[in-house]
Amino acid sequence: MRQIEHFNFNWKYKNNFDKKYIHKEYDDIDFEIINLPHSNKMLPYNNINEKDYQFESCYRKTFTPSTYFKDKLVFLCFGAVMSYCIVYVNGIHAGEHKGGYTPFKLNITEYVKFDEENCITIYVDSNERKEIPPFGYVIDYLTYGGIYREVRIEYCSEIFIENCLIKTTNVQKDKKTLSLDVYIANPQKNRDNLLIKSTIKKEDKIVRSSTEKIKLTKKTVEKYSFNYEISDIDLWDVDNPNLYHLTIELEMNEDIIDSQAYRFGFREVEFTNEGFFLNGKKIKLRGLNRHQSFPYSGYAMPKSAQYKDAEILKKELGVNTVRLSHYPQSDHFLDRCDELGILVFDEIPGWQHIGEAGDWWQITKQHVEEMIKKDWNHPSVFIWGVRINESQDCDKLYKQTNEIARRLDSTRPTGGVRCIRGSKLLEDVYTYNDFIHNGIKGPLDKRKNVTKKTVPYLITEHNGHMFPTKKFDDTAHRVEHALRHLRVLDAMYGDTEIAGSIGWCMFDYNTHKEFGSGDKICYHGVMDMFRIPKYAASVYASQQDQIPVMTVLSSMDNGDLEGSIRGDVYIFSNCNSIRMYINNTFIKEFYPRKDLFTNIPHAPFIIDDFIGNQIKENERFSEKDAETVKKLLSKINRSGGQFGLADKMVFTKIALKYKMNKKDAEDLYSKYFAGWGSASTEYKFEGLIAGKRVITQTKSQVFKPELSIEIDSDILTEEETYDTTRVVLKLKNEYGDDIIYANDVFKLSIEGEAEIIGPKMIALIGGSRAFWIKSNGKAGEVLLRIESERFGTTTKMIQIIKSK
Ligand code: GAL
Repeated sequence: MRQIEHFNFNWKYKNNFDKKYIHKEYDDIDFEIINLPHSNKMLPYNNINEKDYQFESCYRKTFTPSTYFKDKLVFLCFGAVMSYCIVYVNGIHAGEHKGGYTPFKLNITEYVKFDEENCITIYVDSNERKEIPPFGYVIDYLTYGGIYREVRIEYCSEIFIENCLIKTTNVQKDKKTLSLDVYIANPQKNRDNLLIKSTIKKEDKIVRSSTEKIKLTKKTVEKYSFNYEISDIDLWDVDNPNLYHLTIELEMNEDIIDSQAYRFGFREVEFTNEGFFLNGKKIKLRGLNRHQSFPYSGYAMPKSAQYKDAEILKKELGVNTVRLSHYPQSDHFLDRCDELGILVFDEIPGWQHIGEAGDWWQITKQHVEEMIKKDWNHPSVFIWGVRINESQDCDKLYKQTNEIARRLDSTRPTGGVRCIRGSKLLEDVYTYNDFIHNGIKGPLDKRKNVTKKTVPYLITEHNGHMFPTKKFDDTAHRVEHALRHLRVLDAMYGDTEIAGSIGWCMFDYNTHKEFGSGDKICYHGVMDMFRIPKYAASVYASQQDQIPVMTVLSSMDNGDLEGSIRGDVYIFSNCNSIRMYINNTFIKEFYPRKDLFTNIPHAPFIIDDFIGNQIKENERFSEKDAETVKKLLSKINRSGGQFGLADKMVFTKIALKYKMNKKDAEDLYSKYFAGWGSASTEYKFEGLIAGKRVITQTKSQVFKPELSIEIDSDILTEEETYDTTRVVLKLKNEYGDDIIYANDVFKLSIEGEAEIIGPKMIALIGGSRAFWIKSNGKAGEVLLRIESERFGTTTKMIQIIKSK
């Protein structure tokens, strides 16, 4: 049977490389002890020098395999190493890998000694080597360095299961088809008979099991295909992500020689000219692009951080789709997408540039194969991106990448992300980055303008660089950012020729000097780098129906607005109606503006009346005159106090009729529109669903800012490796509302066996900031201390548990 040893703790690391490190006897006393995933260099939050992580480094580790494994094959399996590495076992070159985003597995059997200490030395080159995609030109993101995903050792029998593709078809019928392509590795070219036993379970219940007899062939890896009919199945979809487990066992002479477990879902995906269909049902894809980077540690983050991103996408942002821009990402992230019901656009590494035919092309083709074989059993993956993001047409290369994808997996369509119109479609879906919307134009192009033909069509990016927005930009900027996302989503929902749209992007990211705002950050996210939402996030969040949400896109502080003109206030919410109160007086009940945003599931609310019936009820005007006065005051408010001649005449007429002087008029205005310098006003918004109040938000002056500390999980669980948790610091007012313009400073410290990732002295950025805590292989209790001049000292206990 196969034995797996997680191989992540207690590596030795050096930020340079010397040939002498290869030797088993080399004394690495001055190496640092680290755990994987590991970043070759911790980086600052911004103003990064991207050359800082582009260097050669060395990782070493010893291990002593028991003689119990002496008849086994030994494999060293890497999740990802950026971007080129050579592995030496006991001083001997055992293999190498080019490409920083895909897993690889080296057979090190012949170099390993049992019952003796073995030494693994890894040369890692994190430079932008131009023969390896995505390198060779500029790229809008950082690629970081190091062994940034997990590593394990596998001890396998001589004949073993190399992989298995699980395909589900006819899922809308009672009898569904389950096809297995089982890849059996047989390096010794043994010609015996074998039994392949498969068992399918849902939770603990066996759904089906079967045994197949096969004869081994001369090939080192042979594919064996089986088809089964199967009924009484719960399908996987975005609302009910039902998962099944398949165990495959290899039996030889009544001995189980290998066994592998896979998780999958019964579902079918299809693109037609009419859109995207999941299990025959049309759904609009509403998504965001995700980079896999984190502040400080770059790409190196373990399972819980990867899980959390998927949870944020589904539970906080309410999207049903994510694109892995622009490279294959962590298995953990994909696992969580399977569990939560998020559709995933998977794509090969690359950015605009196609390197020279030769190594670069070869590695690109290798990437297609590695990506598909890594991710093909994830029900969440609905398309293979087989082009370099936004590259020009290159039929010779892309015919091959499409051919590889179709040969390996006939169940999923291919796509390839373009920024060009009228490109030759070698894929199944024309996937296009539509940046036409600049606030005026657009918001989306028509399919026929882009594809020139009637073909399946998906928008893979929009917005992004067209309107970079910081969490601490002024209100108007943040609101416009949200409105741009809203306009695109509304247009997408209204256009039957568009299968969906995937916005740019989930969160801000560090980038190269050619991009970003000068501080090496692209502020393109609907969240900041710490995954803290900007207003634009609420456009997405308000489209789901799982939990009631309501975001008022204003602090109601007119001084933050040009000319102090408040104008309309947008609220993004999935409520049926919103009641507004000013200083506890009911003003009006508002409804979603379906008249303006006709297509999106939940149109925004627009607060365009701050008076309601107040003038009619409180003042001495006739009903008709009260209406005229209200209109007039609202007009003045919107124009920043400007009075046209016609308005003046109307006003004079009313003033004469009711014997009002200038002061009376000014008082009236201040009473209904808290203007510049007038007393503070409290606005309360109540969101209602089916007549019941489900959510409330109050906006008023800040008297007493409070520090809110939220920890994603106060228990860290070490499984394959260390664990992390995110701590979010925010300043909130007494109504629980985020205070945006705050930059207080905090000192962070830890007592116990854990560490803070990144700086220990931090300032809030736009009223909030987060950091991560990382365990270090030891169980116990940890005390986190957060100190500030203004808020004193707060402590939190965190528990670290080792699961095995
Ligand atoms: C696209 C590109 C993305 C990102 C985005 C910014 O052209 O594919 O990686 O740079 O622009 O809007």
